[in-house]
Amino acid sequence: MKNNLSHSTRVFFVCGTGGVGKTTLSALIAIHYATLGYKTLVMTVDPAKRLANALGLESLSHTPQQIQLRDLPKGSFLEALWLDVKNTFDDTLTEFSKSAHEKRKITQNRLYKILSTMMAGTHEYMAMKRLEGLCHSQLYDVIIVDTPPSHNSIDFFTAPARLIKFFNNSFLKSFIPKKSQSGLKARALSQVGQWFNTVTQKGVHALEVLTGKGFVTELAKMIALISELLPEIEESYKRIEQRLHDKNTQYWMIVTPTEESLHDIHDFAKHLKPLGGSLHHIIVNRVFPAVENQSPHPHNCLLKFYADLSQSQEKRVQILKRSYKNVTIIPAQSQNVYHTENLQLWAKSLFKNIS
Ligand SMILES: Nc1ncnc2c1ncn2[C@@H]1O[C@H](COP(=O)(O)OP(=O)(O)OP(=O)(O)O)[C@@H](O)[C@H]1O
Ligand SMILES: [Mg+2]
Repeated sequence: MKNNLSHSTRVFFVCGTGGVGKTTLSALIAIHYATLGYKTLVMTVDPAKRLANALGLESLSHTPQQIQLRDLPKGSFLEALWLDVKNTFDDTLTEFSKSAHEKRKITQNRLYKILSTMMAGTHEYMAMKRLEGLCHSQLYDVIIVDTPPSHNSIDFFTAPARLIKFFNNSFLKSFIPKKSQSGLKARALSQVGQWFNTVTQKGVHALEVLTGKGFVTELAKMIALISELLPEIEESYKRIEQRLHDKNTQYWMIVTPTEESLHDIHDFAKHLKPLGGSLHHIIVNRVFPAVENQSPHPHNCLLKFYADLSQSQEKRVQILKRSYKNVTIIPAQSQNVYHTENLQLWAKSLFKNIS
């Protein structure tokens, strides 16, 4: 049964490089906590339907969806959601804009779609923003965040700050006239226009051939509009930063037992430090079971290959266990486990020591 229930929501970020099993393990960890008796939510930022499939569903939506589990303690539940970045962006605009008119001006801008769906950092900022809202709702004891596929798993946490820095850039800001000056947007437009005209006429021409006439004007408008929202964006980011180093926030790193795993963990932990976080748990996924007795057929290449592989994996696992406190091993599965009943049984056997 549950223990240590804190009044604040506990947040577990499930991190790791691409394809190591973050989504599968997020589902398992979430099932584990719901089974322990916690009100649990698992959210994914990954546009692929992996979390839905891992939970035995066709798809997930932007609003939390209940997952049917057997024999849950009274009061506990598991919900799952997929973060729709565009939707969250729209909600954020509604929250930050001073008027419906101001929001409309942004959403009607031709660059809005790019900014709201494709610009680096937007996904991450919106994920954190949504997470903040969910924590604030106090509906959940535990929220598991399945972080998106990336080469470097720390990117998820540093990207929002880079996005804000981009809009705070003195070059961009130089286009925004002081509030006291009249014709605010007009002046911004003319300054952008002047800059492009005098400095990069050829560049603008090339750009407008690609993007169509009026691109520069739209860009200037967007910069001016976003800059007006920047104080609110920065204010909300302060809360996000606090969440990153809150005592109730945990970072779980998923690795596979490859040679790179030690380096990946070390690298992640090193970059986590300046953010005020520390690695809480390491899960070594897809570990081959050890070969009990040496092959009765020493010349069978396949068996020898397997024995060597599992031995080298075992060595790495031992190094990890010696180097870190909380290490959990997940065996490689040969059959489909993606049925909530199977996952429930699996989670029970894997995480029995984790509360
Ligand atoms: N222990 C395991 N045994 C066997 N297959 C596994 C195991 N864990 C995960 N997988 C499989 O590995 C594949 C990748 O897993 P998953 O989607 O969870 O990884 P991911 O880290 O979320 O990937 P991405 O970085 O693309 O989001 C999936 O097909 C999943 O079914
Ligand atoms: Mg994934």
